Amino acid sequence: MKDASAPTAPQTIYLKDYAAPHHWVDTVHLTFTLAPQATRVLSRIAFVPNAENPGDLVLNGEQLTLLSLRIDGESVEYAVTDTHLTVAQADLPSGAFTFEAEVEISPQTNTALEGLYMSSGMYCTQCEAEGFRKITYYPDRPDVMGVFTVRVESELPVLLSNGNPVASGKGWAEWHDPWKKPAYLFALVAGDLIAHNDSFTTMSGKEVDLNIYVRKGDEDKCAFGMAALKASMTWDEEVYGREYDLDIFNIVAVDDFNMGAMENKGLNIFNSSCVLASPETSTDATFERVEGIIAHEYFHNWTGNRITCRDWFQLCLKEGLTVYRDQMFSGDMRSHPVKRIEEVLQLRARQFREDNGPLAHPVRPESFVEINNFYTATVYEKGAEIIGMLRRLVGDEAYYAGCALYFDRFDGQAVTIEDWLACFAQVTGRDLAQFQQWYSQAGTPRLSVTEAFSGDSFTLTFTQETPPTPGQAVKKPQVLPIAVGLIAADGTEVLPTTVLEMTQASQSFTFSGLAARPTASILRDFSAPVILTRDIDATTRAFLLAHDTDPFNKWEMGRMLAKDTLIAMITRNEAPAGDYLDALKAVLTDDSLDPAFRALTLGLPSQDDLAQTLFDAGQTPDPMAIYEAREALRHALAHHFADVLPDLFAQLDAGTFKPDADGSGKRSLRMSVLSLLSLIDAGKAAQGLFESADNMTEQAGSLLALLGAGKGEEELASFYAQWFHDRLVMDKWFMMQVATAAPLEAAQIVAKLTQHADFNAKNPNRFRAVFGALAANHAGFHAPDGGGYKLLADALIDLDSLNPQTTARLCTAFETWRRYDGDRQSMIRDQLMRILAKPDLSRDTTEMVTRILG
Ligand code: PHE
Ligand code: ZN
Repeated sequence: MKDASAPTAPQTIYLKDYAAPHHWVDTVHLTFTLAPQATRVLSRIAFVPNAENPGDLVLNGEQLTLLSLRIDGESVEYAVTDTHLTVAQADLPSGAFTFEAEVEISPQTNTALEGLYMSSGMYCTQCEAEGFRKITYYPDRPDVMGVFTVRVESELPVLLSNGNPVASGKGWAEWHDPWKKPAYLFALVAGDLIAHNDSFTTMSGKEVDLNIYVRKGDEDKCAFGMAALKASMTWDEEVYGREYDLDIFNIVAVDDFNMGAMENKGLNIFNSSCVLASPETSTDATFERVEGIIAHEYFHNWTGNRITCRDWFQLCLKEGLTVYRDQMFSGDMRSHPVKRIEEVLQLRARQFREDNGPLAHPVRPESFVEINNFYTATVYEKGAEIIGMLRRLVGDEAYYAGCALYFDRFDGQAVTIEDWLACFAQVTGRDLAQFQQWYSQAGTPRLSVTEAFSGDSFTLTFTQETPPTPGQAVKKPQVLPIAVGLIAADGTEVLPTTVLEMTQASQSFTFSGLAARPTASILRDFSAPVILTRDIDATTRAFLLAHDTDPFNKWEMGRMLAKDTLIAMITRNEAPAGDYLDALKAVLTDDSLDPAFRALTLGLPSQDDLAQTLFDAGQTPDPMAIYEAREALRHALAHHFADVLPDLFAQLDAGTFKPDADGSGKRSLRMSVLSLLSLIDAGKAAQGLFESADNMTEQAGSLLALLGAGKGEEELASFYAQWFHDRLVMDKWFMMQVATAAPLEAAQIVAKLTQHADFNAKNPNRFRAVFGALAANHAGFHAPDGGGYKLLADALIDLDSLNPQTTARLCTAFETWRRYDGDRQSMIRDQLMRILAKPDLSRDTTEMVTRILG
């Protein structure tokens, strides 16, 4: 063999450089002999030369110790670097051949949680995007698909892999997956696990065995996830006609996981925080998240697994579509309007933030250094918005017909965005060329509107403009579906929701036959991911808040009133407007409205949102001023509502805990009420609820209310005493303290918590509970002395050696640095430079910090 050469410098990969591989894979046989520091992986891979692109055999492989290698049973010449193994074309047989290799790997020392690693005594894998190359030599790219047979040897009682079980005996088990798949969908699990078992009969009458595997002690937290899985299976049959395709579907809960969950074929692996749920330990928000993520991973079986991505630039092909599908599922399970508002809150908080800063990138990026850095809100959430816009433009019927054509035409293939859109072009006869720009043009379009009324005609004139983003100075107009409705002065709707299709930079739409000037409700249901500016006075907003039939816009009007109020308080030191307080009180006390909706309307814009709003208006946001104004408004609301809060708190008792839309809606409003009430009743109601609560929503909710009112010291201690043994609840304990820390105390509190015996930087959930919460505590993170910045940079520098993926992700805390004043900017730049100067900084973090610095 030739010697390992010097480490390969990180390279930028471009979409335009895509080329098919030199070899395809037919079948793969893997034998794992598990041992914590010396696992053996024996591979036998049947390769077929790609006649259309002949060349060397190029395999990926990282951190592997190669023990043996044979081709068709013979030894051959090969070259190995720290990233690749190559056999020259001249040294290969002329046709198909069998490649055999044995490597050794060390799961126990794998703290990056990518490839095969250990978590709480169990073995598990994470291969997306490029983790399989840390398991064995393989063409680790999604367009190479093979049929896998896997043998696992270990004394551990539960041994799992993809597909159907073939045979097992003492110390071994064999699995076979009949569906060809790319390596990123490979999975293996071995551990002392307990199964929560159930079964599902598919639409064609096939019986599927369902299991959720957990560690001892977690058995009582599986029932909700199992019900969500069965609901997802039914939904995908009923709505998309998609049936499950194996005899068994397994889910495994893992404590140490970089992301939420992973859709490995027939063996989904979940961050335990995204699958385990019980009323005593989980909040309503967790139940909702579990339901959505179980659905998401299950839906990937068709959108991702049966039809996968040609290359990683096409990531949104599976993720945008699958997020859209899980959103629709959750809406059907719960409430569409409430879900939509929650989606938009998320989209604005994460995607708009990204799209308006140095990390902005197209939904289908054109280049990357480390693909892990592109599992972003843009790819996922904006990717889902694009699907929603497509559906709005073509209509429901054509949407489902296009999906059916896609499933039919591309089943078993690795495809592109062009392939996806071609199905809708064919079904509708539409030219989708301009629409396709949504995948290639980064940035959030600004949409402005003017209104005119003359005779019996009302005209809306829209203008769109997308600001420059890194690498894209000039933007073209996008296709925008703009849903509008018109409302008469007496509150009746004179034009029900109508979708206008805007394609030009500027465009007018006229509605005739109107008796009087109507009030327009624009961008209903948030029909396009844009920032809408509209000259509209507080009276019209209050009118729409009271009368709009579109729940999203009704909520949006309340939100805009809140924002205007806060901006006036921040910039002009004004007192909160009485009109706003009254309008909000009307919503709060309107029993005809869904409590979940009332809670959302009561919620104030985040500090981060206000900072971006000020920045967009040409001002330099002052985090302390934003914090003070928001606190002042909370107190003003509490006093203005003082006469109704205690009664509301009493009435909203949801009774026996059920994690459904109804119960969670009531509790959500009740907790909003409690957090205000705690500002004026010395914490009495919250203390009472904390003592008596029989569910985590109210226990954590009352503790948060107390902490938010500067109280709760004792309750925090008793919460710890009750829950120190439960990791997921302890994550909340850590998180709540940081989230509610006063600005000048946040860094100190974080520093103290990292010294706590239960802090463990190697566990991504715990690290995020502390440092993710620090980044989210706007005024605390941006405290004037820069202590928050330094603390986070210190932690990221240490974590990078252990876990580059989670480190790089948390660097996004700094992505908004250009919004702030010169002092803050230079303090942040210093910290970013300090991170960059760390010897051997990972490729992940290097790319992120470099892009953030711009
Ligand atoms: N593909 C996973 C999902 O969206 C996310 C993921 C990516 C998980 C990379 C792990 C690693 O469902
Ligand atoms: Zn996904």
